[in-house]
Amino acid sequence: MAKKLVYIYPGFERFWHWMQAILIFFLAFTGFEIHGSVEFFGFREAVRYHNIAAYMFLGLIIFAIFWHLTTGQWKQYIPTFENIKGQLNYYLFDIFKNAPHPTKKTVISKLNPLQKIVYFGLKILVIPMSVTSGLLYMFYRYPSKYGVEAINIQSLEFIAVFHTIAAFLLISFIMMHLYLITTGETITSNLQAMLTGYEELDVADEEKTETNQVQLKVEANK
Ligand code: HEM
Repeated sequence: MAKKLVYIYPGFERFWHWMQAILIFFLAFTGFEIHGSVEFFGFREAVRYHNIAAYMFLGLIIFAIFWHLTTGQWKQYIPTFENIKGQLNYYLFDIFKNAPHPTKKTVISKLNPLQKIVYFGLKILVIPMSVTSGLLYMFYRYPSKYGVEAINIQSLEFIAVFHTIAAFLLISFIMMHLYLITTGETITSNLQAMLTGYEELDVADEEKTETNQVQLKVEANK
């Protein structure tokens, strides 16, 4: 098996990834100030910044949905149970024996089976849970403004708990994610790939030879 530098993460995907990371980090920080766990901006400012970041997060989600649908990249997240045992075994045991990765990363299949399941769950459960409860939290007063008490103050407490649970789930994911970033071919290869778009992937020897021949022809014609 030969190695080849492959352009795996296009510009928008990297922009979306890093913006999402920054916004979730900022939302968690300001959110926990609102919750009373930290003190930094002051409560009023924390609420204001949390709301601004929430609107940016919503905008980013809309663009990301559009991008995933129009490029077909949504298919990367279709969950599969194939090789899931091998992947679990790798993270629990084989990784400590320097064993090779059980799943081959390619441009059309960037995620291993565990990532597929976890990211799918984030997209259809945790992020919608956070956004819906956040929006209800933001607008719970509005119906009563016109004398319609659609959401009363008791249900607000329920919404707050729901929103906080979603926040804890997202933070747990990020902690796992930070560790897993370091488990690529080298300790920084996953990070570098998400910064530059390029990653060294295993390709079949014939594929590598073909690419070299194409490159040689291009060089010769220059
Ligand atoms: C579109 C997404 C989001 C919206 C619309 C939203 C909205 C809100 C609103 C309106 C509040 C209450 C502010 C107040 O008391 O006046 C709040 C609180 C909070 N938010 Fe968000 N938020 C969003 C995403 C997030 C994310 C991603 C996190 C964390 C990762 C987060 C963590 C929190 C926390 C911890 C609180 C305090 C909950 C409490 O103790 O009551 N939020 N959010």
